[in-house]
Amino acid sequence: MPRDLEGARAIVTGASSGIGAAIAQAFGAAGASVVVNYHSDEEGAAKVVEDIRSAGGQGEAVKADVSKAEDCAQLFATAETKFGGVDILVSNAGIQKDAAFTDLSLGDWQQVIDLNLTGQFLCAQEAVRRFRAQGHDAKRSPALGKIILMSSVHQAIPWAGHVNYASAKGGVKALMESLAQEVAGEKIRVNAIAPGAIKTDINRAEWEDEEGRKKMLELIPYGRIGEPDDIARAAVWLASDASDYVVGTTLFVDGGMALYPSFREGG
Ligand code: BGC
Repeated sequence: MPRDLEGARAIVTGASSGIGAAIAQAFGAAGASVVVNYHSDEEGAAKVVEDIRSAGGQGEAVKADVSKAEDCAQLFATAETKFGGVDILVSNAGIQKDAAFTDLSLGDWQQVIDLNLTGQFLCAQEAVRRFRAQGHDAKRSPALGKIILMSSVHQAIPWAGHVNYASAKGGVKALMESLAQEVAGEKIRVNAIAPGAIKTDINRAEWEDEEGRKKMLELIPYGRIGEPDDIARAAVWLASDASDYVVGTTLFVDGGMALYPSFREGG
């Protein structure tokens, strides 16, 4: 892993497993110090921190519910005390609570919106405040700070049986673009990553099952299900100065899932 994030200080939410864990580890390997946020999987977060440290990097696990403003603030306070500040936020924490439309409870609608959308708003808001308070050090980076929101192909692809999740991700797109437009003049780069089907716990039931795996693959022109590391490598680039002119973009990392694969034949 090239040391593209040498000396950078990052917060990764939802980093005890899956995509968040892979991003935190890749950031560590690329030279960043990382606040590894978790909600309930303390062991998972400890393992990610251990991996970062054994590779010679710095990591700190912090328990926080990012749908609460005070908890988000805690992540930034830790970055401040342990690493002296923050340069990068990866707002990744998210859940699914799936149900057919008329079976979807208000509670499950709300919980997904609270974490997957409001949580990203709260952490991004705290990041912008902190970046401004820290001020720009052009020796560190041409950017004052970088924010990566975790979206999904479902910001664009409608998803029956998952309206809470798709609505949150559609909101993330609008949040990311509006925020990017608002703060780009201050040299804060806001972008998003839209993963496709990546092998994590969130969709384990599908990819572990033979029939489920087959169905997934039919939706992926590139012919393989993604690995968390596919997203982590994109995140390293998007957080590094190699992508300095990339502002307000959603980077789809999906093996072509968003290309309407059912139109390969016919249409
Ligand atoms: C969802 C996964 C799903 C993938 C592709 C992701 O955003 O969390 O469950 O496999 O999109 O549909």
